[in-house]
Amino acid sequence: MYDILFRLFFRRMDPERAHHLAFGWIRLAARVPVLRGLLAAVFAPRDPALKVTAFGLQMSGPFGMAAGFDKNAVGIDGLAMLGFDHVEIGTVTGSPQPGNPPKRLFRLLADRALINRMGFNNDGSAAVAHRLATRTPAFRPTVGVNIGKTKVVAEDDAVADYVTSAERLAGHADYLVVNVSSPNTPGLRDLQAVDRLRPLLSAVRAAADRAVPDRRVPLLVKIAPDLADADIDTVADLAVELGLDGVIATNTTIARDSLGLRSPAALTAETGGLSGAPLKDRSTEVLRRLYARVGDRITLVGVGGVDSADDAWERVLAGATLVQGYSAFIYRGPFWARRVRRGLAARLADSPYPTLAAAVGAGVGRPEEDPR
Ligand SMILES: Cc1cc2nc3c(=O)[nH]c(=O)nc-3n(C[C@H](O)[C@H](O)[C@H](O)COP(=O)(O)O)c2cc1C
Repeated sequence: MYDILFRLFFRRMDPERAHHLAFGWIRLAARVPVLRGLLAAVFAPRDPALKVTAFGLQMSGPFGMAAGFDKNAVGIDGLAMLGFDHVEIGTVTGSPQPGNPPKRLFRLLADRALINRMGFNNDGSAAVAHRLATRTPAFRPTVGVNIGKTKVVAEDDAVADYVTSAERLAGHADYLVVNVSSPNTPGLRDLQAVDRLRPLLSAVRAAADRAVPDRRVPLLVKIAPDLADADIDTVADLAVELGLDGVIATNTTIARDSLGLRSPAALTAETGGLSGAPLKDRSTEVLRRLYARVGDRITLVGVGGVDSADDAWERVLAGATLVQGYSAFIYRGPFWARRVRRGLAARLADSPYPTLAAAVGAGVGRPEEDPR
């Protein structure tokens, strides 16, 4: 059904316009009480077997909408209505900004992928904090808040920009994510270098604690799949050293070597971050490497090319307590989260593990068994 709608309608439309249109419908439906109840019953049936606890937060399940879909926290209820257990809003920056000029989002249909160079278009942390503070939620998914650097802020002032956002947003976040991995803000990914990441994460931790003295807001960092393996280990060690709550692996890639020759060269040559199916193997590899290094000391979130319940299950076995997706939603449509959650529950029931938590990392050698 969605396949037909996609082929006849969305596919012919500019991808960003299609996003706004579809998201507009989702948000509208979520505003009508009876309708949203009916739709939630269809799209988001509860399943106690999927319940998880991550960084001290109890969640209805492990599957979330990745950052970038709802940059401004305008559609949390709509996404919860469609079955996402958590919604990561953002990336939000210290100041509002328009992002890069269009066109900046491209569909690589034959590869089931996207390339985007949105450039953190968002309303800024003051406006988003206000929106979250005044929201009357119809559903209660876990809400993560992902923060990044305002483009015009000099790299030397990056920490202050993140701190401003953390102070404004921490009180409205179930968890906070420091994004240092989007390829579309010049210099951002350089913040992944440990000598820059350590002060940044420490400052954001302190800002969150100052802003929210009565609750320890979990803090995570989101990393790029393009890091060298040795750098992944270094970031993992730093996360343990700083007592970080989680690592999200991964953001989009600037690499193109995983693309087949299916999509037109003019498209694959577009600048930006590649997401979707071609990202799957590298994201899983990064996750597995992280888990081999940190084990259960840090909660891992697996994202990148997750399309099916099998993919989500594979991430759990590779060490992910939570799993996220974005690109496949565009291709699969509104039943996608339901299908993934259902399939995941079936995989769990067929497995030797009594709970999802028991399956986390079961496919990876534990750190002490690691031959390194
Ligand atoms: C259009 C688009 C915009 C995105 N914007 C953000 C963002 O603002 N912040 C962020 O951390 N990740 C962003 N991402 C990356 C996703 O959160 C995710 O890490 C990536 O797409 C890989 O997952 P997927 O293959 O399931 O899409 C964006 C992805 C897409 C496709």
